Amino acid sequence: METLLFCPLSLRGLLLRNRVVVSPMLTYLASAGLPSDEHLVHYGRFATGGAGLVFVEATKVDPCGCSTTKDLGLWSDAFVVPLARIARVIQAGGAAAGIQIAHSGRKARRSLPWEGNQPLATCLGVEQDQVWTLIGPSAVAHSPQCEVPVAMSAADIKAQIEAWGAAAARADAAGFDVLEIQAAHGYLIHQFLSPVANQRTDGYGGSLDNRMRFAVDLVRRVRESWPANKPLFFRLSAVDDMGWTIENSVVLAALLKTHGVDVFDCSSGGIADQVTGAAPIAYGYQVPYAKRIRAGAGVMTMAVGMIIHARQAEEILAEGSADLVAIGREMLHNPNWAFNAAEKLGIPAPFSLLSQNAEFWLKKRSRVKGIQSSTSLGDTVPR
Ligand SMILES: Cc1cc2nc3c(=O)[nH]c(=O)nc-3n(C[C@H](O)[C@H](O)[C@H](O)COP(=O)(O)O)c2cc1C
Repeated sequence: METLLFCPLSLRGLLLRNRVVVSPMLTYLASAGLPSDEHLVHYGRFATGGAGLVFVEATKVDPCGCSTTKDLGLWSDAFVVPLARIARVIQAGGAAAGIQIAHSGRKARRSLPWEGNQPLATCLGVEQDQVWTLIGPSAVAHSPQCEVPVAMSAADIKAQIEAWGAAAARADAAGFDVLEIQAAHGYLIHQFLSPVANQRTDGYGGSLDNRMRFAVDLVRRVRESWPANKPLFFRLSAVDDMGWTIENSVVLAALLKTHGVDVFDCSSGGIADQVTGAAPIAYGYQVPYAKRIRAGAGVMTMAVGMIIHARQAEEILAEGSADLVAIGREMLHNPNWAFNAAEKLGIPAPFSLLSQNAEFWLKKRSRVKGIQSSTSLGDTVPR
């Protein structure tokens, strides 16, 4: 059967084998910003499972931007060689290798999720040298429990934009095929966009144009370092229920397209701990945002959030809501999700998504009379 999900997609000089994307997900496996062998295992299995594009987690452009002490880093050339190993492992599995670059701004410096995700300075047992400066567009805390960040000076803004550009050059040097800018979830770029977090009175605050200026300047700088033949993605919170609206997102996407962003990855929320009016978390809850931005701004979008089933993903593309689908937690559940979806949707030669070895043996096995795959049909042994 012909599907959109398994139809290759050409983005600048890159051809994706399909439109299944592994969403960036922090692993909390780094040490002093450096990846571990577990990263290789973790990312490799998504690629060998058939996805078209595998994103490496939010990798910080500046040590002050780390959410936790276990975040990956890209703030110096020392990270290029170790990250290149991850890119090569993903590519060896047949997928394109993507990396998300990020800075948590006033939301940096937390304990790990399973340690409560608390502001670090207030955590018992935390050494003083693990505490680093929080920065943000304004001296406005994320929540009453959080410390007030230092408002960035004009020089800080310039240095920060430069750090993103340098990180983009390092991601290229490490061999990544796709770069994504993390501007969602209440992190630094989102903080500049937000009328709540951004109380500046200079050219980077106030009007919508001014609040978008940091994102625009940063994208322009990143595009100078990121090769013209490689695609650039931008993840945004399409709505945040705290003053940033879907209409604002349409305006931002149309503007950033002119500065070289190819795909908008449509997430939501994160600027405050309490989000009241945003779409309830249910199957495909953020898909309408991808659809609206795609139609309103005339851009390519990626849908994400509770996309679980193969047919659900196919429908998202068929109804014109998005050009790509990103799968997060379901990939943790089943790293072979893409291969499994190909089987379920009945695409010809689904085994070709796997390694040559697995393809050879599984094809042979599938010719045994009455054989059925446990992943697609459950655990009942046919009699
Ligand atoms: C463990 C975990 C880590 C995450 N880390 C990131 C990240 O590094 N960058 C990011 O933009 N989103 C991150 N997210 C959000 C996911 O990329 C995704 O948008 C979200 O989980 C919704 O998709 P899902 O329902 O398919 O999981 C993370 C989510 C999880 C569960």
